[in-house]
Amino acid sequence: MAASAETLNCEQRKIMEDEWTIVLPRRSNQKRKFPKIKCAKQQELQTHWAPTDLETSPEKELQLMQKMQISIEKLEKSPFFRAFLDQIHTPEASECFRKITQPEHKLKMVIYGIGSIESFESPRLQLSLAILMKRKLNWIGDMEVFDPIISLTESKVLEELGCRVLSVNEQGKRQAVNPILFFMPHCEAELYENLLKTNWRYNMLNQIVLLGNSFEKYEQHRSVFQNSALDDSRKHLLAVRSFTKEFEIRTVSDDYFRAFHGSSWHFFSVDSNANLQLTC
Ligand SMILES: C[S@@+](CC[C@H](N)C(=O)[O-])C[C@H]1O[C@@H](n2cnc3c(N)ncnc32)[C@H](O)[C@@H]1O
Repeated sequence: MAASAETLNCEQRKIMEDEWTIVLPRRSNQKRKFPKIKCAKQQELQTHWAPTDLETSPEKELQLMQKMQISIEKLEKSPFFRAFLDQIHTPEASECFRKITQPEHKLKMVIYGIGSIESFESPRLQLSLAILMKRKLNWIGDMEVFDPIISLTESKVLEELGCRVLSVNEQGKRQAVNPILFFMPHCEAELYENLLKTNWRYNMLNQIVLLGNSFEKYEQHRSVFQNSALDDSRKHLLAVRSFTKEFEIRTVSDDYFRAFHGSSWHFFSVDSNANLQLTC
């Protein structure tokens, strides 16, 4: 039986308010007595997805694969990548990774918002970093990738590089039932917010490692701009700050600035008694 508005708990009601708008009939003399329920945020539904750019050929794929190989090689030899690995191996960061990884399971990597590896160097460098992490760190497991703008050529090359391209737009709402490394380079705040909101329980937050835009910078930005509408759209992101350990990625040289500036590792450490009530 479907739940009525009265039988819904607060969380369920909030989800309905977020995802559905009830459109009431305009005129009172309309015969239709029931309100029409219309989906107001189509883009937030987790729907089946397939590339819209279907133009591909073996030559195009080969060309993109060669671009990716050049990018991987360049990154692998770079001082940026050495510094990146050194940071992971510092005692402080290692301890955070040790807490989240399980000896018997490799850490799955979910990559959202990679962008177009065909068109831009930054997404290629970001994907190269993910691939090199997988190659160099034996505790990294399967890689899953999603961005709604991925073309068929990109999808094929991603698969060839060992990534699984998701066929559902999850809107960043993957539940961390097991530990997951989310790699979300330069994503919109809304996607981080969706991820945190979906996992807004101590045990799920504690299973997340997030490499993405610095939450510390979002907080600094907030204190400068004092915009309550903005705060409202980032409330989980701001609230999780008090449970977050953050390690900033050093871009080291100009070559890597565009792809990795303002990015950080984030680890969440939430006690089972912690108050996760949001005040705003
Ligand atoms: C600001 S761009 C960053 C692209 C790239 N990482 C870069 O740094 O140039 C944000 C990316 O998020 C993607 N995106 C938007 N909605 C998404 C979703 N639901 N799941 C995954 N990616 C999404 C966009 O298509 C876009 O490519």
